[in-house]
Amino acid sequence: MNKENELWLEETLKKTMEKISTVADRSYGKVPYTTVNGRFDDKSNTDNPADINWWTNGFYGGILWLMYHETKEEKYKKMAKEIADKISVCFDRYYNLDHDMGFLWLPTDVADYKETGSEVGRKRGLHAANILAGRFNPVANYIRAWNDGVGKENGPTSNVGWCIIDCLMNLPLLYWASEETGDPRFKYVAMKHADMAIKNFLREDGSVNHIVELNPNTGEFVQSFGGQGYGHGSSWTRGQSWALYGFLFSYLHTKEERYLEASKKVASYFCDNIPESGLIPVDFRQPKEPAYEDSTAAAIASCGLIELSKISEGKEKEKYLDSAIKMLKALTDNRCDFSLDTDNIVNYCTASYHDNKHHFSIIYGDYYYLEALLKLKGNELFIW
Ligand code: GLY
Repeated sequence: MNKENELWLEETLKKTMEKISTVADRSYGKVPYTTVNGRFDDKSNTDNPADINWWTNGFYGGILWLMYHETKEEKYKKMAKEIADKISVCFDRYYNLDHDMGFLWLPTDVADYKETGSEVGRKRGLHAANILAGRFNPVANYIRAWNDGVGKENGPTSNVGWCIIDCLMNLPLLYWASEETGDPRFKYVAMKHADMAIKNFLREDGSVNHIVELNPNTGEFVQSFGGQGYGHGSSWTRGQSWALYGFLFSYLHTKEERYLEASKKVASYFCDNIPESGLIPVDFRQPKEPAYEDSTAAAIASCGLIELSKISEGKEKEKYLDSAIKMLKALTDNRCDFSLDTDNIVNYCTASYHDNKHHFSIIYGDYYYLEALLKLKGNELFIW
């Protein structure tokens, strides 16, 4: 990084961490997804008991562990452990569990184990990995996304053959379990799924599908769905970010070149589609109006690009790093709220193109924004 970017990073990280610290002091025990009237909501305290299983419930814990790693302030550790205890009830809710075991347990219990050596964290992390591996279909070589009853409105009568691009981000839980125990089964399952994703999700131009249905008895491709993007064959930007970053993790954990190639193919497509403003639409193929944005896609892709830049050379390295910094500066200048009276930082996040609601705060926007800044600084806790 040049001097100007170094100064920008120092200043941005300072105000980001100051805000997270202030907000933490009024958020003990919360498991936030978004903000209501500027304050974090709490998925552990709602009328719907299934809310505790929501796939984003690990991200505030992740923010706290990143902060603990950086500052060694006890309050972050205490709060993060409280969240992990709260989400551990999910293990008893079999029907509400899905493939997002990585999103839930890597930034919480596994981060705790990596940071403090917690035996409870290790045990729950391995338990989660076993449940995720149990979703693998060994005749068709994919990890099933959801149980029946979820997502049916978009497609067939049963989603037994459905898998989604986001799942690449859950595979590091399996790689970690193999690294931790020496048992190759977890890594085997992860690699089979990643290979399936290269074959069925990755398109010629470097973009990816969101949802794919496979024949659960043969693994043959049946059809794809637009999922949370604009429509069939479109290019949902958060899905592109999951693919860029997710394939890279498969490379980092296995050193198999095909995963690095896949990650770079998506990265090149992503970088070529970043608008002049540096602000990312919900779908690269959406109509010009309404101009829906998704800041989370920008933050996630930035993390992947920074990580890719570390293992690339020359022009490629420069392109990855410059693209990440361009998006992070665009977020910082236009979409971040550093005031201390609100709880979130990143605004203009969108869960899904066709939802009624767009442009609000979502906890993983803040998580990946912080992760990206710490990655630029170096020596961050490697959660995935
Ligand atoms: N993993 C679901 C999403 O990205 O919205």
